[in-house]
Amino acid sequence: MLLQRDAQGQPIAIRREDYAAPAFWIDTVDLTFDLDPAKTRVLNRMQLRRNPEVPAQPLRLDGDELNLARVLVNGQGASFRMEGDQLVIDGLPDAFELELFTTCCPIKNTKLMGLFVSEDTFFTQCEAEGFRRITYFLDRPDVMAMYTVTLRASKTAYPVLLSNGNLVDQGELPEGRHFAKWVDPFKKPSYLFALVAGKLVAREQRITARSGKEHLLQVYVRAGDLDKTEHAMNSLVNSVLWDEARFGLPLDLDRFMIVATSDFNMGAMENKGLNIFNTKYVLANQATATDADYSNIESVVGHEYFHNWSGDRVTCRDWFQLSLKEGLTVFRDQEFSQDLCADASARAVKRIEDVRVLRTAQFPEDAGPMAHPVRPDSYIEISNFYTVTIYEKGAEVVRMMQTLVGRQGFEKGITLYFERHDGQAVTCDDFAQAIADANPDSELARLLPQFKRWYSQAGTPRLAAHGVYDAQNRSYTLSVVQSCPPTPGQQTKEPFVIPLNIGLLDAATGRELPMQLEGESDVARGTRTIVLSRAGEQITFVGLDAEPVPSILRGFSAPVILDFAYTDAQLLTLLANDPDPFNRWEAGQRLGLRAALQAIAAHATDTTPVLDDAYLDAMRGVLRHPQLDAAFKELVLTLPSETYIAEQLDVVDPQRVHLVREAMRAQLATALFADWEQAYEDNKDTGAYTPDPTSSGRRALAGMALNFLCLAARASGDTVWPGKTLQRFKDAGNMTDRFNALNALVSSGHTLAAQALARFHAMFKDEALVIDKWFSLQAGASDRGGDILPLVKQLMKHPDFSLKNPNRARSVIFSYCSGNPGAFHRADAAGYVFWSERVIELDAINPQVAARLARALDRWSKLAEPYRSAAREAIARVAAKPDLSKDTHEVVTRALAGN
Ligand code: TRP
Ligand code: ZN
Repeated sequence: MLLQRDAQGQPIAIRREDYAAPAFWIDTVDLTFDLDPAKTRVLNRMQLRRNPEVPAQPLRLDGDELNLARVLVNGQGASFRMEGDQLVIDGLPDAFELELFTTCCPIKNTKLMGLFVSEDTFFTQCEAEGFRRITYFLDRPDVMAMYTVTLRASKTAYPVLLSNGNLVDQGELPEGRHFAKWVDPFKKPSYLFALVAGKLVAREQRITARSGKEHLLQVYVRAGDLDKTEHAMNSLVNSVLWDEARFGLPLDLDRFMIVATSDFNMGAMENKGLNIFNTKYVLANQATATDADYSNIESVVGHEYFHNWSGDRVTCRDWFQLSLKEGLTVFRDQEFSQDLCADASARAVKRIEDVRVLRTAQFPEDAGPMAHPVRPDSYIEISNFYTVTIYEKGAEVVRMMQTLVGRQGFEKGITLYFERHDGQAVTCDDFAQAIADANPDSELARLLPQFKRWYSQAGTPRLAAHGVYDAQNRSYTLSVVQSCPPTPGQQTKEPFVIPLNIGLLDAATGRELPMQLEGESDVARGTRTIVLSRAGEQITFVGLDAEPVPSILRGFSAPVILDFAYTDAQLLTLLANDPDPFNRWEAGQRLGLRAALQAIAAHATDTTPVLDDAYLDAMRGVLRHPQLDAAFKELVLTLPSETYIAEQLDVVDPQRVHLVREAMRAQLATALFADWEQAYEDNKDTGAYTPDPTSSGRRALAGMALNFLCLAARASGDTVWPGKTLQRFKDAGNMTDRFNALNALVSSGHTLAAQALARFHAMFKDEALVIDKWFSLQAGASDRGGDILPLVKQLMKHPDFSLKNPNRARSVIFSYCSGNPGAFHRADAAGYVFWSERVIELDAINPQVAARLARALDRWSKLAEPYRSAAREAIARVAAKPDLSKDTHEVVTRALAGN
């Protein structure tokens, strides 16, 4: 740690502008592991050579929590010194062999970085800087080497031995041990190294690629879980076929493996040929997994598989370029999931869900103390930058490029990118350049330097638009002014390139109008992309007999906030008629948001009606609509979240936001009671279970209906619907229906909830992922059923609770602190005190998980009193703790610096 701290002992920031090429290259790495949970021995033989382009300097290898036993240069004992965690060797020849022998202790590794043990099985996690916890190395992504790996372990305890690439040898060793030797045919950075050793079984499938080449696909799990691997395997097969078909990118390995572990810091990891997954994103059968789980599995399996090209074949030069692989790969997995949809409505539903994540998680990040550009300029701990900005906003930046060059142009760009950079570690600039070079006549090529401000400037741009109709000239002029608020370290911003998709609707009929721009001869119908690049612009449409209703930012064509003073009537027109499903949904969200903000400003009490008849009629119209899909209806009828509402306010009283939104829900429940009954009856039976978008949409709408029916029952004292809901809970043929029924009882605070919860636990006591749901539902429930914080503390004492298992810790602590604002923000500050204690407690076990939890109070400075001062005090208490990890230290000091 020494080298990363300044004279005051504070961690030092790493800066992008300080990038320098490595002083040495590593060509080959030959690793031999003697696996033992208490003391694993690692022999590392490497071929190194000086980088002739860099001034001569000593070799500095990174290490972390290693015991070093031997250092040999060309077979001879060599002199070396330790500088902090780095192993430093002077006076080296231009090319040489380096042999290192170290040991480490996987069983004590609770950080889950490097080599660790989970349920008696060895796993590794090396991204971003975990390989240095396995051996001393140039642990940076621009050092790419060929790996040979030999694993040795007890044959009975660890019958399966896996690493990257191809199995080239295996056999018996004395004393009941055995070995396996793996060779990876591709050079790779150390963060893509992986090994797995333990008692596992695999589902296997052979597939034939377009080229005629055969591949073996394997999904490894623990013996009891094999019946939950079919969906992951199907998702993998679909991923392989999709990447070939859409981008011409084939599987480049004979064998591709996925392995699941229940102890994992994040979702999954794209190690070359050996992806390691959190069980949450692999295991599913209809009895244990919901439709949302099925769809997440499809996305994450796709995501990791697509990294095989975008990340593994072409990787990042340095960690500031993280979005090069993550933004592109999220874009690819989002496109994949959309392309698997059978129709346009299901595609739109997926798009709306993705935008909802961006706006409820990334927009607040961009407005808070952790705001950073898609390509950050500095960091203290890189693990803190695996963020929604790098991933989701990064994906939107890639999507805008596709919009600017067209779908075919983008495919050409991707082809050029991989041709040009295969086997290299490159930058975000290289990516954008390849897309532009493949499309020299595009708007992207014309505006490339300006477009790249999306990489360098943080913050969410705002578009202030307003329209003026000129009856004399039959024209409509839309003025658009863009701005972007200051973010930490960036006081002023330059204009962005913003592709703005627009349509015009007739205010009287709701029909789409032909569009003709001033000075143009052609008339087009449908959506047009207008490319904004100046601070203020005017767009004039001609040939209009009346003032149109503009449908702006269709499909959410750019990650911006659009301000347009729509009248309620205009929004109702869009909600009823917009052929663009995204904006149709958005019109409903704007109406709901407007009602919420007015009620909050008016200090509404929980008995004041918030929603007017026009809104309720419109919602009824959507619910009863004969053509709209159930999934789309469910999205329209979901009110903006408390987090999203809070984001629109300058000063947030979380209790008031909660109260108003709950009042809106209660009103929707009672005013549409008969319609909810009908929606439930129409959608409750979906036949034999399949997780496809159509039937999962119907289950989602039926679940929403039950929820509102139980809520209405609570107000009226009716017992029929809660009784039916309990019956549904008992009889359900799949987890989605069962969990929705349970949720309806719990979230309405019904007395039947307790027995349903007890029964649910008893039914699934051996299914860890289901028990996570059981914990999470209770910790995330609204306080209607009682005070949540004492319950959360009680849940932490449950024999099934463990702070060391990240999924379990998240299911209780994060569900409360991040997922339950109405219960977390307490006037007595007890929620914040609980948060600070858990951050400190977790930090000693697993800094990455602690630092995520630390972010729950990112937006503290927006809170009203007494919340604001109490939150600040809680953050200060964490920051004052000595020996905090770099991870948590960076988050809390940035939070305090914000105000
Ligand atoms: N690169 C991985 C992905 O996006 C995620 C990842 C990064 C990760 N660091 C990690 C996963 C640490 C687990 C632990 O797919
Ligand atoms: Zn990724």
